[in-house]
Amino acid sequence: LRSALRRSAAASYMSIRAFASPPGQQRKVAILGAAGGIGQPLSLLMKLNPMVSHLSLYDIAGTPGVAADVSHINTRSEVKGYAGEDQLGAALEGSDLVIIPAGVPRKPGMTRDDLFEINAGIVKSLCEAIAKYCPNALVNMISNPVNSTVPIAAEVFKSKGVYDERRLFGVTTLDVVRARTFYAGKANVNVADVSVPVIGGHAGITILPLFSQATPSANLSSDEITALTKRTQDGGTEVVEAKAGKGSATLSMAYAGALFADACLKGLNGVPDVVECSFVQSTVTELPFFASKVKLGKNGVEEVLGFGPLSDYEQQGLEALKTELKSSIEKGVKWHANSK
Ligand code: NAD
Ligand code: LMR
Repeated sequence: LRSALRRSAAASYMSIRAFASPPGQQRKVAILGAAGGIGQPLSLLMKLNPMVSHLSLYDIAGTPGVAADVSHINTRSEVKGYAGEDQLGAALEGSDLVIIPAGVPRKPGMTRDDLFEINAGIVKSLCEAIAKYCPNALVNMISNPVNSTVPIAAEVFKSKGVYDERRLFGVTTLDVVRARTFYAGKANVNVADVSVPVIGGHAGITILPLFSQATPSANLSSDEITALTKRTQDGGTEVVEAKAGKGSATLSMAYAGALFADACLKGLNGVPDVVECSFVQSTVTELPFFASKVKLGKNGVEEVLGFGPLSDYEQQGLEALKTELKSSIEKGVKWHANSK
């Protein structure tokens, strides 16, 4: 009975269906920034994912300990730790998916854009290494400000001649996770059944949850929708303030990052109809990057889906976010042009 329970727990992990992991399918996942607040729990969660055959944990320091610790867990993947720049190539070589939570987090009173200068440089150097050692890998960008770090990554890949827009993702899953949680609480529905698309970007008003499309539907007042929208947009700040100087969301982010990575791996493995929201190169608005539902496949983005009908409130939110999102995207592109 105990082994049957163990088998069923493993099978139900993040609703991975049996065909998601064909026997012998090798998938190497690299986490850059693996010794950090997000990196450590994300390493744990990726170690639990049966689609992963090789887990590569990289940071500037501290990864041998994290890797030794995680490697004792009796799941499929072989774990290796890499520390310092001279080991970055080996960490990346052969990766199918690279997850990047490397960089500094916010403290109370800061915006995500205040992290730009430090994190832009970190993301640039990591993406240069990805271009060299695993140019075909999918890249899941977690480092903030996502609205600028994704365009920076695209510029790095373009400058190295390896850019494929289908393979670059800004991770906005935490916004979706929050929207689901807050909506379930307000609508008094089972959180496990809730679906809410979140579009736009990943900072303040650029985060636009579409509660008009939330399921199961509920009769919420416009005041309740406004409050839910603001709470979702300020979710990161809520955690930063509660942590009072000790960083930003790490555990919920690790969960969200693992959920998105799981979807990317399912897509790579040919599981049909895998759809998640992500900040990607896009033509659904006039902005060059935009978060919306994306269908994932064997080459990454298979289709960027539109966002469907919006309520008047959401339409206003969409118009209001465009100026900030456009300037964050342009800031990343300009920074890269001046950084050569
Ligand atoms: P942290 O400081 O706890 O960890 C960051 C890690 O990155 C550290 O271990 C550090 O050594 C490592 N690092 C720094 N430079 C590096 C380099 N050049 N190569 C490899 N590793 C490097 O921070 P955290 O709380 O884990 O947050 C990391 C980033 O994720 C921050 O920028 C934060 O704003 C962002 N974040 C994004 C989301 C999102 O929804 N996308 C959510 C939460 C946090
Ligand atoms: C979040 O949404 O929690 C992250 O972007 C971290 C932050 O700075 O808020």
